[in-house]
Amino acid sequence: MIKTALITGAAKRVGKAISIHLASRGWNIAIHYNSSDFDARKLQEELSRDFPEQQFELFKADLSQADEVESLLPAVFDTLGNPGLLVNNASVFERSFLGQTTTELLDRQMNVNFRAPFILTRNFAKMAKSGLVINFVDTRIVNNQSGFAAYSLSKKTLWEMTKMAALEFGPNIRINAIAPGLTLPPEEKGEDYLLKLAGDIAMKRPGGLDPILKSMDFILENDYLTGQLLFCDGGENLGLAN
Ligand SMILES: NC(=O)c1ccc[n+]([C@@H]2O[C@H](COP(=O)([O-])OP(=O)(O)OC[C@H]3O[C@@H](n4cnc5c(N)ncnc54)[C@H](OP(=O)(O)O)[C@@H]3O)[C@@H](O)[C@H]2O)c1
Repeated sequence: MIKTALITGAAKRVGKAISIHLASRGWNIAIHYNSSDFDARKLQEELSRDFPEQQFELFKADLSQADEVESLLPAVFDTLGNPGLLVNNASVFERSFLGQTTTELLDRQMNVNFRAPFILTRNFAKMAKSGLVINFVDTRIVNNQSGFAAYSLSKKTLWEMTKMAALEFGPNIRINAIAPGLTLPPEEKGEDYLLKLAGDIAMKRPGGLDPILKSMDFILENDYLTGQLLFCDGGENLGLAN
């Protein structure tokens, strides 16, 4: 497989960790970002310093805008050539019950969390001809709690698309999903927020980034795996203990 990866939302948090992890395994990285110009540039500098033989290029796109999503893969092809891996990691996460979900909020969630990965996956299948797509969903897709109704619906839909696309685009394109649970607290909250929530899940602790990176390696190395979902959630998908 060609070792160039496009990672959406790569400047910070989970996307940054994936970028560093893949770079340490010899991948060139197309670092996609939207508002995090400073962090994206800093990451590019760090990766270029630590892995001078590899290529790290920045791609800015607002994934809520269909035309910017459509242009992203062609721009990566022009600069870095054919990517063998697409990681749909970028996401928006807004709290709202169904009853309070405005059409604008629904559009924001669906456009970034579902429509953008849909367009990128479809274009990847057309342009890359072979390779791997990893879609980031959420352990919330197994339950019907509606506190983040539009977010949950966007991720449930992304998982359905993952299975459909795996069937249509095989055997040359594999498509799998990772469902994180308690990984990193929202930016405005501290670790205490996750520790409190973790009391009710089977593993009784937040997972951090490591389970996600291990799951990525598993998907990369297991070339018979397609249309599958790996939960990195300490058992949260089983339900809450209390
Ligand atoms: N963190 C967790 O505990 C957790 C739990 C369950 C599932 N997940 C899933 O795991 C993935 C990574 O989580 P995370 O917490 O690292 O995500 P995050 O910090 O909430 O978002 C990642 C990136 O998405 C990008 N993004 C948002 N709106 C965008 C837009 N309109 N256009 C382009 N990019 C946009 C942002 O890029 P810029 O900063 O450049 O604007 C942001 O840095 C997500 O798919 C998330 O749903 C995470």
